Amino acid sequence: MDYKLNLDWQSFLDSHWQKRPLLIKNGFTRFIDPISADELAGLAMEDEVDSRLVSHKEGLWQVAHGPFESYDHLGEENWSVLVQAVDHWHYPSAALMKPFKVLSDWRMDDLMISYSVPGGGVGPHLDQYDVFIIQGEGRRHWRVGEKVPMKQHCPHPDLLQVEPFDAIIDAEMEPGDILYIPPGFPHEGYAIEPSLNYSVGFRAPNARELMSSFADYLISNELGSYRYCDPDLSFRDNPAEILQGEQIKLREMMESLINDPQVFRKWLGEFISQSRHELDLAPPEPSYGQDEVYALLKTQQETLYKLNGLRALRVGDQFFVNGECLETTSYEAADSLCRYDSVNVENLGDAIDDVNFIALLTALVNSGYWYFND
Ligand code: SIN
Ligand code: CO
Repeated sequence: MDYKLNLDWQSFLDSHWQKRPLLIKNGFTRFIDPISADELAGLAMEDEVDSRLVSHKEGLWQVAHGPFESYDHLGEENWSVLVQAVDHWHYPSAALMKPFKVLSDWRMDDLMISYSVPGGGVGPHLDQYDVFIIQGEGRRHWRVGEKVPMKQHCPHPDLLQVEPFDAIIDAEMEPGDILYIPPGFPHEGYAIEPSLNYSVGFRAPNARELMSSFADYLISNELGSYRYCDPDLSFRDNPAEILQGEQIKLREMMESLINDPQVFRKWLGEFISQSRHELDLAPPEPSYGQDEVYALLKTQQETLYKLNGLRALRVGDQFFVNGECLETTSYEAADSLCRYDSVNVENLGDAIDDVNFIALLTALVNSGYWYFND
């Protein structure tokens, strides 16, 4: 199913993205849920899937982590089950992320889906990330407050909440309505009727994560082994002082690595193309031979699909898939692989007749990253 979003992206980017929350009434007209509450509850029973159950009673909050065995003990009020990265596991749900791809693949994270019974929600809180919350079946009361410094507390070790806040958006959301919330704006949603909510989340690394990952990259690639040297060392008055010029030289040693475009790009591509959630990888058994991949694409005109949730990104003329750099000189074909959800003989162009490219494609298919529908 194709979801068409009613939104003027240019004015959204100008006035709301990372700036102000926005309620988009009827963002999706005649919205059809891609998943049912039962299917979602079933996913939260699986080992590989990351899920939580949040409930509250008389002001006391409880959190349990999946996989869950049953939901029978839960009453008819005040609980919510939240499942991460549903787009990785449930094909129709992944379609709901497509309209948001205009904001860039690298910033996009996963699709979290929650099912809440009346009164269910995770309480007032803030997130570090931008999120679009889509209302599916049911109705839910959402409130969003102003971004002001707020104290956070933990009513349960696994739950971070904020104090009550005044609302700048206070709305009963109906199927197809969308709430955009930039980082740091407090919000809370309580179901009025049993509700499904879809959160399209974005990611934004902090400087600490970047530095730490960059340092790991240097270590695993044995880069930056050169040492400080000072053949011009001169006599000084204060042996305890690190001189200004020495500090500059040390900092330049570090900067020269980050400033090396090749090192920076390779690290960035590997880092940012890693998924934060497990992928539904099912490498084909038996694996494909190169001649089979070639014949399926070229002779049988088959389509090759990208695994949902797989991060395939381009940095300059390099292409990265799930943390690995693709070794190829078939730039246009690699660009198509990253850019589109599926490829065929047309988007792949001349590369289809290049044995090196077919070898790469075969390896990607045999890893389970791309697949043929059979
Ligand atoms: C939800 O309860 O569906 C969304 C939770 C959130 O506000 O992040
Ligand atoms: Co939130």
